[in-house]
Amino acid sequence: MTKEYPHGDRSWWQAARFGMFIHWGVYSVPARGEWMQTIEKIPTEEYKTRYVDNFDPDRFEPEKWAKWAKDAGMKYMVFTAKHHDGFCMWDSSYTEYKAKRDYVKEIVEAFRAEGIRTGLYYSLLDWNHPQFTIDHNHPLRDQDWAELNKTRDQHLYCEYMRNQVTELLTNYGQIDVMWFDFTYARPGGKYPEEWEAEELLAHVRKLAPNILIDDRLGLPGSGDFKSPEQYVPRDGMRDANGNGDLVPWEGCQTFSGLWGYARDETTWKTPHQLITMLVGHVARGGNLLLNVGPDARGRFDKRAVQALEGIAEWMDEHSDAIYNCTIAPTEYKEPENCMYTYNPEKKRLYLHIFSYPVKFIFLPGLHGKVKFARFLNDHSEVKMMAPPAAHGNMTPCASADTLILQLPPTAPDTVVPVIELILK
Ligand code: GLC
Repeated sequence: MTKEYPHGDRSWWQAARFGMFIHWGVYSVPARGEWMQTIEKIPTEEYKTRYVDNFDPDRFEPEKWAKWAKDAGMKYMVFTAKHHDGFCMWDSSYTEYKAKRDYVKEIVEAFRAEGIRTGLYYSLLDWNHPQFTIDHNHPLRDQDWAELNKTRDQHLYCEYMRNQVTELLTNYGQIDVMWFDFTYARPGGKYPEEWEAEELLAHVRKLAPNILIDDRLGLPGSGDFKSPEQYVPRDGMRDANGNGDLVPWEGCQTFSGLWGYARDETTWKTPHQLITMLVGHVARGGNLLLNVGPDARGRFDKRAVQALEGIAEWMDEHSDAIYNCTIAPTEYKEPENCMYTYNPEKKRLYLHIFSYPVKFIFLPGLHGKVKFARFLNDHSEVKMMAPPAAHGNMTPCASADTLILQLPPTAPDTVVPVIELILK
């Protein structure tokens, strides 16, 4: 039996469906992702002189970030207060390894001003803290761990984490999400006990009973949501009790390969891929947390802005098919190249068409069940037809319970057309 933990308030979050992840810190200077310090095995001193001392974001305008998020239809954000390098983006009293400005404060305030809920990412790993024990992810992993760890006391590091979490959850107004990252429970890695995870979790709950906490502290059964990363679970995420119940989950995804600003990364997703991905999360009962990695001047990458603008354009007409929506009842089988999202309260099904077919689209299980069908972008009617009877010795092209939609020859001018089916 897995232990039961208290949960925060997931209702607003499940209605929201779409949030912005922001990975921003000193690693925007080397501009090759937030893992570069350990990939290149750079000790803290060198990281400091090369990057911390040259972190000079002269174009930091979080109001712009918040506006882009809002226009794209994102309802919450999660910002990296501290990433694995250990550098703190707020004015912490527990370290000098921090930014000269309180970025956490300015960022959460800017997003709140746009009506966007706020969350903070806090790395469990810390490649700077002198008490954090060396493990296989640490930049100093090639040295003699046993020797180095003699002078390190992980328990003191855990106290440091709890103190910092207290700061983050008491000095910045209501924080809605606490995103810990991450447990690598194997020999040479770190187990939940090494974060004093039970205590940390209870500490957060005590400070903020309704906050949402991700599942990466590694305690089975804890966490208000699961956090698959860089893939979309094919069938949603189900609980382990074997009854197949869907559990709350949030996929975190990047525009391109890495989280922190990566100047030379060219694998950017197309607008079609991004919309398909957003729909793919909601259609399987999940949320999408889509990441932006601002650059070392504090700006969003032009490619991110373009992508966000594309999403904004689509969301402007199609957000009814995202907010308050979830996986559709299984009796409605999705046609080829399409996915459904479903609003149970309004009893509306949204048919997302990823590849526009010629003339007809066949919807099994829906004949006689739909009051009206229309394109969501302009609310124009889509004609419905009953399944044809067999004639001569030809078998009918669709089963008797199939609703046939007759499509105009040209698709609506939008990346992914959506047909709204108003159920009886
Ligand atoms: C990972 C990575 C990290 C990133 C995170 C986002 O676990 O360590 O760099 O912040 O996932 O989900």
